[in-house]
Amino acid sequence: MPLPVIADVDTGVDDALALLFLASHPDIDLRAVTCVAGNASLAQVTQNTLDVLAVAGSDAPVAAGSQRPLIEPARDAGSYHGANGIGNLHLPPSPRTAEPVHATELLRREIETSAGPVTVLSLAPLTNIALLLRLYPHLASQIARIVVMGGSSSAGNASAVAEFNVWHDPEAAQIVLSSSVPTTVYPLDVFNRVVASETQISQLRDAATPRARLAASLLDYQVTLADLPDDITSGAKLGDAGTAVFLVAPEHIGTETWPVEVELNAGFSRGQTVVDRRHRPGEAEEHGLVTPVSRSDIALTVDGPAVAGVFVDALLRAEPVP
Ligand code: BDR
Ligand code: CA
Repeated sequence: MPLPVIADVDTGVDDALALLFLASHPDIDLRAVTCVAGNASLAQVTQNTLDVLAVAGSDAPVAAGSQRPLIEPARDAGSYHGANGIGNLHLPPSPRTAEPVHATELLRREIETSAGPVTVLSLAPLTNIALLLRLYPHLASQIARIVVMGGSSSAGNASAVAEFNVWHDPEAAQIVLSSSVPTTVYPLDVFNRVVASETQISQLRDAATPRARLAASLLDYQVTLADLPDDITSGAKLGDAGTAVFLVAPEHIGTETWPVEVELNAGFSRGQTVVDRRHRPGEAEEHGLVTPVSRSDIALTVDGPAVAGVFVDALLRAEPVP
């Protein structure tokens, strides 16, 4: 049976790639998509999400959620993902509109009415999901797992040590990671290493379906960002889409279970995800000065080409939208 999934997104070039994959893979049942401000304003993210899903032929309900982080004021989205958040591509406007409810209500509805536990895929600042867990704590037992694109166990991208999704709303990330729901974290350590090759991008560009061609255009934009790791010389990062592939092909990604918490203090390390990879207690623990920290499964190694292959195959094999 396909995996029931709700995605929370800030579409976003790489969120768009993830949506195309989620709508295309036969082992995923995309139940709903919720939106949060991040890569673009909430209104732009919501429209981008509807437009991308229309190209993908998905009728998953979409709802707009949080315009700003829990504590901090709204942030300027910047233009890293292009002026419109999806690489300045102009998609045909979706014939659908967003559900007339807040994202937390769409999440609640889909989780409550699901016959079995649902996987929540978080590809954006975690504000909506933190609010859901605070508003409806009883739903935690009906969420199979929250898979979070966020954090880093090494360098950051929003700051020297903080990854964008966690940096944008650190309190929300801490609420989610310290909740009772099992969590898997897909941090920058692996996010940066999943790259579609130039050949794969050409295959998508030459494909018959609009969704594959849209994936190629989004990847072309990613190429212009020129943000590959030093040891990868060409291609385009899949970004959030690699996290979506993890749902169906976890064998290509190595995880370890470690305590993790978010730095909430003001200062240059705010938003850092601190992964405690020590194999034995330190002085603080010896002296009873530390409170227990929740553990997450953290992706630390990845077979990048294999993950990119799963992504491209799903897009190339997907049926044309009727
Ligand atoms: C994350 O931030 C956004 O720019 C991307 O969409 C991704 O979710 C990477 O730090
Ligand atoms: Ca994102």
